Amino acid sequence: MPLIAPSLLSANFLNLQADCQMLNESAADWYHLDVMDGRFVPNISFGPMLIDFFRKATTKVCDVHLMIEEPERYAEAFKKAGADNLTVHYEACKHLHRNIQQIKDLGMQAGVALNPHTPVDVLKDVLADIDLVCLMSVNPGFGGQSFITHTLSKIRSLRTMINTWGLPVKIEIDGGVTMENAKDIIDAGADVLVAGNTVFKSADPKGTIALLKGV
Ligand code: DX5
Ligand code: ZN
Repeated sequence: MPLIAPSLLSANFLNLQADCQMLNESAADWYHLDVMDGRFVPNISFGPMLIDFFRKATTKVCDVHLMIEEPERYAEAFKKAGADNLTVHYEACKHLHRNIQQIKDLGMQAGVALNPHTPVDVLKDVLADIDLVCLMSVNPGFGGQSFITHTLSKIRSLRTMINTWGLPVKIEIDGGVTMENAKDIIDAGADVLVAGNTVFKSADPKGTIALLKGV
């Protein structure tokens, strides 16, 4: 069964308590929390202060996706705020291996995210050191965009690398996941589905999460 990670970016920020309660009662596995700095991506979202509130609102895994430059400056703050998984972008890290070491040393699960244009091969020398690869299936910065279908072939290539080397690394797909494409994404070899609009714009978010879980 896939892990389901609803993206709170699409939640109702005037009533986060209701959305958190819905997620806590749902089959969702992770809270996916999108941090944007207005530099690495053309949008600004939220930072450690809000993660701290989400941490207190749930016992589910807090999966923090950093779309920021110089993530090393903030890793400790996100640990303190309660992040379980901390994902940095390959494209934002000059010394990716050092970033991964920092995250592991702080006691979090380390993830690396790849933009749609970045081939999965760039991960071959760090794959054994990380817990999660987040393949962006849209250009990062906004919810509600359309899934880039080429991602399916990237999932298959990465799945082959992971299986060939017998690694426990999870593949997370982020952006444009819908009820229509979820099965193809899982069949290609993904483990975790991030879903923002598909969950939060649904008439029945809990039911939608259960359906995604069952694909
Ligand atoms: C985009 C974010 C995603 C986004 C997904 O930069 O990383 O997590 O919120 O939203 P949907 O599922 O609506 O594409
Ligand atoms: Zn994300």
